[in-house]
Formats: sequence, structure tokens, C-alpha cells
Amino acid sequence: MAVGIAVGDNKKAYPGNLTPFVTVTCIVAAMGGLIFGYDIGISGGVTAMPSFLKKFFPSVYRKQQEDSISNQYCQYDSQTLTMFTSSLYLAALLASLVASTTTRKFGRKLSMLFGGVLFCAGAVINGAAKAVWMLIVGRILLGFGIGFANQSVPLYLSEMAPYKFRGALNIGFQLSITVGILVANVLNYFFAKIHGGWGWRLSLGGAMVPALIITVGSLVLPDTPNSMIERGQHDEAREKLRRIRGVEDVDEEFRDLVAASEASMKIEHPWRNLLQRKYRPHMTMAVMIPFFQQLTGINVIMFYAPVLFNTIGFGSNASLMSAVITGVVNVVATMVSIYGVDKWGRRFLFLEGGFQMLICQAVVAACIGAKFGINGNPGELPKWYAIVVVLFICIYVAGFAWSWGPLGWLVPSEIFPLEIRSAAQSINVSVNMLFTFIVAQIFLTMLCHLKFGLFLFFAFFVVLMSIFVYYFLPETKGIPIEEMGQVWKTHWFWARYVADEDYPIGGGYEMTKGGQGPKNV
Ligand code: BGC
Repeated sequence: MAVGIAVGDNKKAYPGNLTPFVTVTCIVAAMGGLIFGYDIGISGGVTAMPSFLKKFFPSVYRKQQEDSISNQYCQYDSQTLTMFTSSLYLAALLASLVASTTTRKFGRKLSMLFGGVLFCAGAVINGAAKAVWMLIVGRILLGFGIGFANQSVPLYLSEMAPYKFRGALNIGFQLSITVGILVANVLNYFFAKIHGGWGWRLSLGGAMVPALIITVGSLVLPDTPNSMIERGQHDEAREKLRRIRGVEDVDEEFRDLVAASEASMKIEHPWRNLLQRKYRPHMTMAVMIPFFQQLTGINVIMFYAPVLFNTIGFGSNASLMSAVITGVVNVVATMVSIYGVDKWGRRFLFLEGGFQMLICQAVVAACIGAKFGINGNPGELPKWYAIVVVLFICIYVAGFAWSWGPLGWLVPSEIFPLEIRSAAQSINVSVNMLFTFIVAQIFLTMLCHLKFGLFLFFAFFVVLMSIFVYYFLPETKGIPIEEMGQVWKTHWFWARYVADEDYPIGGGYEMTKGGQGPKNV
């Protein structure tokens, strides 16, 4: 009988390789991030297109024309316009809660399929929109799609990946998000130039392409062994595990998965279960990580970069171009994180990224404050000024892209034990969507009132989140996903919430009895 080789601090090491099979599978699944990214990138650009504003939001359009020389901070302040961007996130929030059940009972793949189909429907309606209500209905469908995809894809990746490469493979999801944003920014740049001003239809309808990719992907991908075991298909799951890991001897990992699944079967009320004391660390992370991720202020840049650059004096064209530049930085910096996450660890990236974002926010606030003051009337803006602002925004985006961006999805997906995984991931997604909604909804109003202070507001949260990571987030690099319990047990603060029997050393499975189940149930 194969027994997991104990390494170091009672860590297990399951045999298994980074097989071509698992690599291709994870790349395809990670493409589920494209729909989310495409949408993030598209909405900002579309709302900066005059023809789009004129058709659907004439009052904003008029105001923009009139105000162009007075208060720059307030030219886009419109609740209906922000509602267009942010309605999607409320829909995604609801969908991610429903997806919890689909993902748990019917498997990760089905949730991905729903995600693709709903998103596709939303793209069709949006591309064909004739009135604001069609835009909103379309966006709600897109939101449903994103809710399903973001709930299931990160879990799928973390379960599929051999644990030593889990960080890198999981960040494929964030990489797809950033590629989606970039592609959308580039398309906006060209579509905005189309004569007749109907380019926005292509931008919105183009969302069908990433939707079809995830739809087809979900049909051809294999299920994760964890999910198959959870649904009682033991023999198939063992075979699949052999295939994924590329070794015959998967007994140890298989047994642990079965044990985790048995523990999970005993849970009748997954939601109520989350409130147990032993899950306090997990719940804290499921709420705080997405909350902080959004309070970095990243989406101010992602949604409104063209608007923001316009505000600080760039022409329409230059604004879209600058958004493309930040988009490239976002993709490249995410790759750095793929390279480093399983080497340097999560905590290092979180802390370094936080520091970098903080410095940039301070510089950008100072630059904007110096030129725009409080009345929002900058006069003539020199070229060097624009370059400095774009440069620091790029360094800020890079900081986010190798820290809170990918880790905001990776860390939650790897810390939840199977019995709460699906429900806890839904909490993670819904908190993320809730704060994405709030930031999107109030940003333009905040810019109008807080002015350059807006950047200091987010900087304050970056300080808080770095302190939080420093004291409360344990390192999760290189620990098998069903073994994660030990990180809480040995943590200076969280140890008080988890009793020894909650997570016995070595995974908590009675080896001598052939792994008949965890001791803690
Ligand atoms: C966040 C998004 C953000 C994107 C930027 C993601 O991790 O969840 O809100 O727009 O990163 O790349």
C-alpha cells in the first residue's frame, strides 16, 4: 500500500507530474476567465464612445459636451450610466449563490456550461440593443454567466492541478481575465473609429466569442476526481486521477479525496455549516480577500481608464490607447505571478504588490491634486504630466496583477475543505461581485466629490489589507489542497478556532484502517 511521503512539517507529497493532459485541461478551463475579462474591458470603452452615449444616455452626452471646460471631475457623474456597468455584478452575485448547488451536486463542468450559455445570450441581446432596457437585460444575463463561471472555474483548476503547480495553473484563470480585458480594450480602440458610430455593437456582441470558448470547453473537459467522488463515481474517479497525474500509484491521494468526500457527505446544510467555529478562518478569508481585492481600487482603472484618462485631459483616442497600454502591463505582470507564485509564495506577492500599489496611489493623487486642485480646472496640461500619470498607473496595475488580482481567486479556491468548498467559494464570488458593484456604482460620484482624494481613499485600504495579510494569512504554497487544515492549526491566531481533532496531522485520515474516513466526524 502506498503511503504519502511525509515531508517537512508533516506535509504530504503525493506522487504525480505536470502531465500534458493536466496542462491542456487547465489551460482550456482557465479560458473561463475570458468572459469576465472581456466584459470588464468592454464596458469602460463603450461608455467612452460618444455615439453610444448619445443613443442610450443622451443626458450624459449633453453634459459632457457642455462641461468640457469647467469641472472635469464631474463630467461623467450619472447614476444610469454607472448602473449600466454595475448591474452585471448584482446578477453575478445572485448567480454565484445558485451555482453553489449546481457545482456541488452536478459537478464543476455543468456550472461552467451554464456560465457560457447565459453569457452568450447576454452578448446577443446587447449587440442588438435598441433601448436601455435591452442593454440592462443583456447585462443581467452576462452577469449570470460570470457568476457561474467564476464560482466553478477556480475550484476546477485548484482541484485538477498537482499541488506543487497549483498556484501557476490556477492563475491561468486570472491570465485569461487579463487577456480578455486587453482584447476588449484593443477592439474598443478600433471599433470606436468605425464610421456611423455603430462600433459599440461589435464590441458588445463580440462577447459571444469568449462565451462560445467556455461553452465548448465545458463540454470537452473531464470532471475533476474530487467532484466525481463527491457524486459517488469512485472507480471512474480513480482512473481519471491516474490519467491526470500520469502515474499508476495514486492510492494515497485517492484515499484522501474519498475521505474528504465522506466528511462532506455528512453535511446536510452546507450554508449553515459555514457558521461553525472551526470554519471561522475560512469564512474570514472568503469575505476579507475579495473585499480587499476590490478595495485596491483596481476597477476604477479597469472600467474607467478611458474615462479617467479623458478626465485628466487626454483626447478620446489617446484615452483608449492608454487603456490598451495598461491592458498589456496587466497581462505581462500576471505572467510574472504565474512564474513566481509557487516559488516565492503567496504572502510575499501580496505584501510586495501592496507596497507597490500604495506608492503609486500616493504619486497619482499628488499629480492629479497638483494640476486639478479642487475645482477640477487644470488649464493647459504638459505632456510630461500625462506620461508620469500613465507610468504610475501602469506600475500600480503591475502591482495588482501579480498580487491581489490572481491571489484573490487562487487563495480562496485552495483553502476551503471539500465539505464547504462550493458554498464558501460562492461567498467569495458574491462578496467580490458586491464590492465590484459598489466601487463601480459610486466611483464617478466619488471622483466628482473626493476628487484626487479618491486615490488616497483606496491607498488607505491597501495599508489595511497589507497588515491583514501580514498577521492573518498563512502561507499556502506547496500544500496539497485536502491537507490545508494544518496551516490554521499552526497559525498564531487561527489555532484557537480549530481544535486538534478538526484537522489531525497527516490529513486526519486513519491510515491503518485503510483510510475509512476522517477522525473528525
Ligand atoms: C478582479 C477584477 C479585476 C481584474 C483586473 C480580477 O482579479 O476580480 O475585478 O477587474 O482582476 O485584471
